[in-house]
Amino acid sequence: MEKLDWLAANRDLWNSRVKGHMNSDFYAQEAFEKGACSLKQPELALLGDVRGKEILHLQCHFGQDTLSLQRRGAQCTGLDFSNEAIEAARVLNAKLGLGAEFVCEEVYKAAEAVMGKPFDAVFTSYGTLGWLPDVGRWAEQVAACLKPGGELVYVDFHPFLWTLNSSGSEFAFDYFNREAIVETSDQSYASTEQKQAVEVGWNHPVSEIQQALIDSGLQLEKVQEFDYSPYNCLANLVEEEPGVYRWSQHGNRFPMLLAVRARKR
Ligand SMILES: C[S@@+](CC[C@H](N)C(=O)[O-])C[C@H]1O[C@@H](n2cnc3c(N)ncnc32)[C@H](O)[C@@H]1O
Repeated sequence: MEKLDWLAANRDLWNSRVKGHMNSDFYAQEAFEKGACSLKQPELALLGDVRGKEILHLQCHFGQDTLSLQRRGAQCTGLDFSNEAIEAARVLNAKLGLGAEFVCEEVYKAAEAVMGKPFDAVFTSYGTLGWLPDVGRWAEQVAACLKPGGELVYVDFHPFLWTLNSSGSEFAFDYFNREAIVETSDQSYASTEQKQAVEVGWNHPVSEIQQALIDSGLQLEKVQEFDYSPYNCLANLVEEEPGVYRWSQHGNRFPMLLAVRARKR
């Protein structure tokens, strides 16, 4: 599939998800507007104290995580290729008077979009690299957006998870990045309010992600795997403890999250 096709298809898909997501229980927008933080423990622990830091948040969707970081004292720029998401994020930012910035652009043009401004940290989480064909190009953008000594905080579902079907009952996909995975969906992990749309994704093994960061000049500082999902975003997950979701048939036997902190030398 040509680049323009996957980019256009995925943008179209994500544009069609924004309204439904903002109305969903999953994103709990009312509580967020009243002050609830949308960030989860794995990323909060890796990010540490963000007060005074300039942070670029890649694939920010409609801005809840960006604005949560802003509320914690960072100066944030959120970037996403969905014009609907960025428009919603800007409205929310203004409504809450938080002073973040939002840029509408695709990840592979991030450095250009922020006009070469270097950040103390780049943050990205939960549903990110699976939308990109080439992790090397992503890592180059991350490095280009960081000051020397600046850090990437990456937290996402573990690449192993994407070998399974959506209910976790059987192996369905290659662990390795062999080809684009093209599917049609009419609902998302958060909402049934979505038009029928094509989605194009890629699986990226752990080695590919880590090597891409090393090749782009980042030093791996912390690599973690978690045996749970903090989100109830896959079919048949059970909340075993507050905020700890797993498939009961698998228990805690395999990783569900991968978290990395890497620093630009
Ligand atoms: C699952 S969300 C991740 C954000 C966060 N976990 C959340 O739930 O708010 C994925 C986001 O990636 C964005 N996205 C997908 N492909 C992209 C690309 N090539 N460039 C920029 N943004 C992209 C989508 O528009 C969407 O907002």
